[in-house]
Amino acid sequence: MDYSWRNLNNIYQHVLKLGMLSPPEDVIASWLLFSSKPKIENFLELGSYLGGGIGIFNQALNETGHKDVKFTGVDHLSFIGAKAANTSGAWYTDHFNRCLSTEEIKSLTKLSTPNDMSAWIKERCERLTETPLSVTSVLSEKEAGTQQYDIIHHDYGDGVDENLNTIRNCVPMLKDNGIYIVDDWCTGAPLRTWATVLAQQEGLLYPIMWGKNKVFFAKSAEVAKQTVSQLCANPEYNGKLFKFMSGSDYFGSGYTTIRMHWQAMQWS
Ligand SMILES: C[S@@+](CC[C@H](N)C(=O)[O-])C[C@H]1O[C@@H](n2cnc3c(N)ncnc32)[C@H](O)[C@@H]1O
Repeated sequence: MDYSWRNLNNIYQHVLKLGMLSPPEDVIASWLLFSSKPKIENFLELGSYLGGGIGIFNQALNETGHKDVKFTGVDHLSFIGAKAANTSGAWYTDHFNRCLSTEEIKSLTKLSTPNDMSAWIKERCERLTETPLSVTSVLSEKEAGTQQYDIIHHDYGDGVDENLNTIRNCVPMLKDNGIYIVDDWCTGAPLRTWATVLAQQEGLLYPIMWGKNKVFFAKSAEVAKQTVSQLCANPEYNGKLFKFMSGSDYFGSGYTTIRMHWQAMQWS
């Protein structure tokens, strides 16, 4: 699968099929990041859901030279059996119908443990991406802290306190040169957006790149600056689609951030 901006429409279809809850432009930004980093071994997905995101990230990592990445997926799995119990929001049912086959929906209702979920995600992702996947599921972020991660993808949480707590809990699980990606950084999760601003003021997060919905952070200014240099040195870096943000020296002298020009990506 070509994960560059040259293949935006096909990536969009692939994202829909896998059931990843993300715009394809953000997958392209992630792919650019992955292909700019020397070594990625451990990935924490906060909100693993159906594993669509894990499957796509795994495939994009594999194709950018990061083989055998170990994924840990955190999810309280309340959506398992939600349709039968008629508890969780209808969007799960609608989305299940959009991306899962009748067989897959049926098998999902039989799952009851995190291990069941790992096996279900692994089988489905490997079938749809033709890429080997290593994934371990846990029910809460507290259970994920037994190791250090190269990438953390924060994709749950509504309120400011809830999201700030997740950031405070999980930034210490990030390796010094790791990347913390926050999803729905805009109208999708406005109070999560607010929490990242407070986290920046606490010195926990330093912005690197602004995607469409995902924003990429480091845990130090040095790593943020180094990562911007690595992105720009990547032969796949396209200055028309990834632009420098003037005013970034707000975060420190000599500081630069990049914003993805996702509209230009759609036009091209
Ligand atoms: C937006 S979905 C994640 C989508 C996924 N990252 C993807 O791109 O395919 C959010 C998930 O987080 C889970 N979740 C929400 N709050 C949680 C919490 N505090 N702890 C664990 N899981 C949670 C929900 O069950 C849901 O499956």
